[in-house]
Amino acid sequence: MPRSRIIALTNQKGGVGKTTTVCALCGVFSSKNKKVLAIDLDPQGNLSFSLGASMEGLTIHDVITGRCSFDDAIQRTENCDVVASNILLSGSELELNSAGREFILKEKLEPLKYRYDYILLDTPPALSILTINAYVATDDLIVPMTPEILSLQGISQLTDTILAVKKYYNKALDVRGILFTRYNARYLLSKEVEDMADIVARQLSCKVLETKITHNIQVAEAPAHQMTLIRYAPSSRASKDYVKLAGELYPEAMQ
Ligand SMILES: Nc1ncnc2c1ncn2[C@@H]1O[C@H](COP(=O)(O)OP(=O)(O)O)[C@@H](O)[C@H]1O
Ligand SMILES: [Mg+2]
Repeated sequence: MPRSRIIALTNQKGGVGKTTTVCALCGVFSSKNKKVLAIDLDPQGNLSFSLGASMEGLTIHDVITGRCSFDDAIQRTENCDVVASNILLSGSELELNSAGREFILKEKLEPLKYRYDYILLDTPPALSILTINAYVATDDLIVPMTPEILSLQGISQLTDTILAVKKYYNKALDVRGILFTRYNARYLLSKEVEDMADIVARQLSCKVLETKITHNIQVAEAPAHQMTLIRYAPSSRASKDYVKLAGELYPEAMQ
């Protein structure tokens, strides 16, 4: 098996579709019989819940603090393999205090790299040490945004952090693009939002992705059923958008 492709979703703003996108892409890749691991790096545990993983047993917190290995923490769900998180992870800012703390996740992932086709990382709404660990460990970064001016505020902090990690810790980090989520084609993107997104994309040497994810009620419903979108509502517009997104970024997965 070739080396896994590691993909992280990031934006220090909450509510922009990070967790939703990780969950949906896990579903799309799994539907193509790819071997998928989802890792929840947000203490809120939304991804763990959405994919039907238990938040009571061993979690990513135990893995990165050295209490157990990834193998011990991996749960097999009907959706894909999952490493869950829970609120204990919020203590990791203090616990990860040794030299090299930025590299812990990368190092722990090493033994898994030939066992999965895709490893997806969900990150917390903060530019914390957990987020940095995700940037260091990942191959690809996708930055979701909602089409409002507000969601673009604070973005310079995000771009500064990404560029610093790329410069000092992970030269191969590939920012794949900015992804508009919760998009409504009936309301064209305002000129201001489009211009701002282009500026951000230029700063990050990436592009605004062609695929935009439609705002669909089924997206919000799927987590309650602990099903990925493609299982819960395969014919919904948003599900088709996520299939298109996977085709735009990972055509090799969709053959
Ligand atoms: N395309 C969409 N259509 C409708 N609701 C969406 C869509 N994408 C995300 N949401 C909803 O928006 C909220 C925030 O999304 P979420 O993925 O949790 O954001 P984040 O992880 O960035 O905080 C959730 O309630 C989710 O169900
Ligand atoms: Mg989230």
